[in-house]
Amino acid sequence: MTAPSIPVIAIDGPSASGKGTVAALVAQALGFHYLDSGAIYRVTAHAAQRAGLSLDDEAALAELARGLDLRFEGGEVFLDGEAVGDAIRTEEAGRAASKIAAMPVLRAALLERQRAFRQAPGLVTDGRDMGSVVFPDATVKIFLTASREARAQRRYKQLIEKGFDANLAALFQDLSERDARDAARAAAPLKQTADAALLDTTGLTISQAVERVLQGYRTASAA
Ligand code: C5P
Repeated sequence: MTAPSIPVIAIDGPSASGKGTVAALVAQALGFHYLDSGAIYRVTAHAAQRAGLSLDDEAALAELARGLDLRFEGGEVFLDGEAVGDAIRTEEAGRAASKIAAMPVLRAALLERQRAFRQAPGLVTDGRDMGSVVFPDATVKIFLTASREARAQRRYKQLIEKGFDANLAALFQDLSERDARDAARAAAPLKQTADAALLDTTGLTISQAVERVLQGYRTASAA
């Protein structure tokens, strides 16, 4: 099978919309691979901070990104062989990822690494530009969102469950800032493309959202 004939389900949307949870469950239901592209930006920012690089030094960050020893295995993310899943899930790590993600040279450096995840029998991936830039020929493209209040609540619950401190008002503020930055940047801004189906999950359960995506995929692959 050549890469373009391998199906891709691209799920894009704002922070804390639940797209990661939905994407992972869709991948599980279909027996497809799963790529959390946000984790790549988070790990890159983490590696940069660890190496003492400035988060403003685009050339150095891109160089670092090209050489990253990054691996996903069993739901965990490894940087240089060390599990960094918890360290990259903090709000601070999200902010750092969003900052460096605005840099076009850095994004270009990560492009092929993301495309390499397109392996048989198929890939489900989530991020901001999966359908618009990384996999423009995806079988199905979904723009998954939810109200900002619902997203702040979900992120709050997620952090508390993981044993982190969290403050709902601060999370709401942080999401607002991150949405604005991700949507306003010139390089691969967060937006619903004309060929992506809108899925608003504000009033949906996770399994309802998963079912909608699976339906979209069945329809697209039958076409
Ligand atoms: O999805 P997640 O919150 O983990 O992503 C962290 C940050 O990485 C986002 O705020 C966004 O700026 C950036 N990102 C991106 N393109 C992607 C995935 C994530 O710019 N495909």
